[in-house]
Amino acid sequence: MHESAVVTTVLGIIGLLLVAAIAAIALKRLKMPYTVGLVIVGLLLRLLVGQFHQLEPLASIELSPDLIFFIFLPTLIFESAFNLNARLLAQNLTPVLALAAPGLLLSTAIVGALVALFTPLTLGPALVFGALISATDPVAVVALFKEVGAPKRLAVLIEGESLFNDATAIVLFQIIVTVATGAAFGASIIGTGTLDFLRVFFGGLVIGGLIGYLMIWIISHADSDPLVEVAFSTVVAYAAFIVAEHNFHVSGVMSTVGAGLVVGTMGSTRFSKNVREYLHQFWEYAAFVANSLIFLLVGLSLNLGELSAYLGPISVAIVAGLLARALVVFGLIPLVTRLSSTRIDLRYQTVMFWGGLRGAVAIALVLSLSPDFPFRDLIAAMAVGVVIFSLVAGGLTMGPLIRKLGLADPSLADLVGVEQATIVAKNAAAERLKKISVSGHFSSSMVADLLADCETEIAKANRRMDDLRHRCSPSDMKKVLWTQALSIERTNYREMFEHGAITGAVLQELELAVDLTQDALRLDEAGMEDADLDRSATPLEERIANVGIRLVKLVAPNGRTVQRHQLASLAAKYEHDTAVALASRRVVTQLDQLAASSGIDPEITRACEAVWEKRRAAAIGRIDSVAEHFPEFASAVQFRTASRIAFEGEAEAVDDLASSGAIPEFAAAQSRKQVEQALQRLASQPVDALEPEPSELLAKVPFFATLEQSDRKRVVDKLAPRTVLAGTDIITQGEKGSSLFLISRGVVSVHSKQPQKEFERVASFHAGQFFGEMALLRAEPRSATVRAVTDCQLYELSRESVEELYGVCPSLESALERAAKERSG
Ligand code: CMP
Repeated sequence: MHESAVVTTVLGIIGLLLVAAIAAIALKRLKMPYTVGLVIVGLLLRLLVGQFHQLEPLASIELSPDLIFFIFLPTLIFESAFNLNARLLAQNLTPVLALAAPGLLLSTAIVGALVALFTPLTLGPALVFGALISATDPVAVVALFKEVGAPKRLAVLIEGESLFNDATAIVLFQIIVTVATGAAFGASIIGTGTLDFLRVFFGGLVIGGLIGYLMIWIISHADSDPLVEVAFSTVVAYAAFIVAEHNFHVSGVMSTVGAGLVVGTMGSTRFSKNVREYLHQFWEYAAFVANSLIFLLVGLSLNLGELSAYLGPISVAIVAGLLARALVVFGLIPLVTRLSSTRIDLRYQTVMFWGGLRGAVAIALVLSLSPDFPFRDLIAAMAVGVVIFSLVAGGLTMGPLIRKLGLADPSLADLVGVEQATIVAKNAAAERLKKISVSGHFSSSMVADLLADCETEIAKANRRMDDLRHRCSPSDMKKVLWTQALSIERTNYREMFEHGAITGAVLQELELAVDLTQDALRLDEAGMEDADLDRSATPLEERIANVGIRLVKLVAPNGRTVQRHQLASLAAKYEHDTAVALASRRVVTQLDQLAASSGIDPEITRACEAVWEKRRAAAIGRIDSVAEHFPEFASAVQFRTASRIAFEGEAEAVDDLASSGAIPEFAAAQSRKQVEQALQRLASQPVDALEPEPSELLAKVPFFATLEQSDRKRVVDKLAPRTVLAGTDIITQGEKGSSLFLISRGVVSVHSKQPQKEFERVASFHAGQFFGEMALLRAEPRSATVRAVTDCQLYELSRESVEELYGVCPSLESALERAAKERSG
């Protein structure tokens, strides 16, 4: 008997997958969104199962809350978080979190109130309904977005919200259910509820993040084998969910989100290309299976007949849901964007309003209500009604809506690009044909016919291109050129990464910047002169690390960790600037040819070239400044880059030899492994070339220059080296502090704010000079802010050290006193 249950389940799963695969083909033909289509197919299937008993295994799998939460959700959420662009998410975190937490609360309250007013539900159950129906479904929305090709930022806003608000909804639902089933409602519930929520939400994120990190750590210390790594990632997705729920009683959804974000972001820089591709393909397949099953099962579990008894309350629920969503999106977003400096276009807001589809989470929550919960049947009917309405009405109209709003339009640049591609391709075909006609193996009249076809196509494409050109205003033309320039830039970054010239983290940062400019260009968000081209150079991982470093600094400001971190940032900045300089040069050289082939006004071309020239000059300026102040460092970074390029070249050669059969596969595998290990070693090695050389400093500082050899050593022992990046505040006005800084390399500026005045730059110091003496001598707060203008190499001396050194170097005290007096003017 037991066996037959297994067989039925297997038959059920296989059968559903078969239906899903066939439906996928049919839905593509019908141009219907996949998820919506599957629900409809599921509904039809339910009717058929009643008629044909052979189909019964399909209905043997029941859609239970545990199935959704513990089997489907981890996969879907992990995949979504893994692929989410964490950098873009970080930039849009404020609106995303505002919608996911306060937005969800607001929506719960509005839906609850309306439903309590206009349906038989009492307030408690009405609020339960409000909570379970307010979470937008990541699956339905994300799948749809991929299909219609929505702008990247819009996708992140919606996807981010739906990932985070699942957790909020689940927690809120549990709290309200507890209250509604007896516990007295009062201020204490709100207080403990809020605390509980914060613990569950952020606790989950942290647990998942740690589990994800642990996986990365294990993998980066083991030999890489894609299959093992895929297995690890599966364990992480599920372990994050279950460990969070069962061992820590925090949100499993948030935990899986945390794990997915960490593995996706860190993995993209630590895994080899091979492993990354495997992981992506595996998770794409896993999500496809989970998606297919879940939506088919939703369809299969719905009983439309039963719903007809509740049409009144369902309509109220639908209207309440729409109203609440409208209020949350159109009310909260303008408010939040005013507080943070982001802007979210009204068209985006419209899509976010209409794109708040509801799905499996709502169904799972309803199913988890105990059978004796007041109004359970009515709540279930209303939830199902809203889900069907949102999936069918929303799902079917989303694509057209996005197109109508012009959010998925191919830009003029895309159109020109298509024509250009046709011309290039047809020209290549014509060349081949000419070659084979010479060989004499083919009938010349046939070749001539094919050639004539090519020429006609080329002529047509040229005509269409002319047409486009006539339709284009100069500003359109400018856009075309800009878009093409950005594509060249992006291709170059990819190439550099593939050749090992830049790391994955730097590549991601550069690509994101290109993406955002491209989106902005396409949607006319910004006048392109104003486009923020000098886009942030600090990779996200670094930014997160910066927060940690700040904490470490509080405990051990002189520690090795702080120094290493500074050097890593400097290396990333250097790499970033080198890439920008190189890519910008290629953009400029290629723009000329491009402009000629698309007939763009030379004036416009020159303006565009000037922008990239400027970027190049700025990047080179920054590289030069590092090279000037830290020549050893610059050559160490270059050495590392060159080694990486060499290793990548080696790997490519091995691949070529293996694929041509010149060396056996096992030998190739061995060589690949060696290269892989060498690359990993290189990545984990800090750039350590900034070992400071204190005697260099002593020679520059007047009061130390004349010291005897033995005294010099006593001074050197007391010096604590610091590397500070350009733009960092070394001293902040008003803070406590009593150490003296000596500049070994670089330039700093002094800014001071006097009462009723603006911050003013009062001085700059360079190598051989010192600052910070005033607070040291007078035991007062710092009198000014001192900022690194270039990257700097400094030495810090504590007050005790300075006082000891007075004995060794008598002129020190008077020099400090004199400076303090002059500077305080
Ligand atoms: P301290 O007050 O310890 O910290 C800020 C430092 O900036 C201060 O010591 C001086 O070294 C320097 N500083 C402050 N004001 C001036 C000024 N007007 N001109 C030059 N240096 C200054």
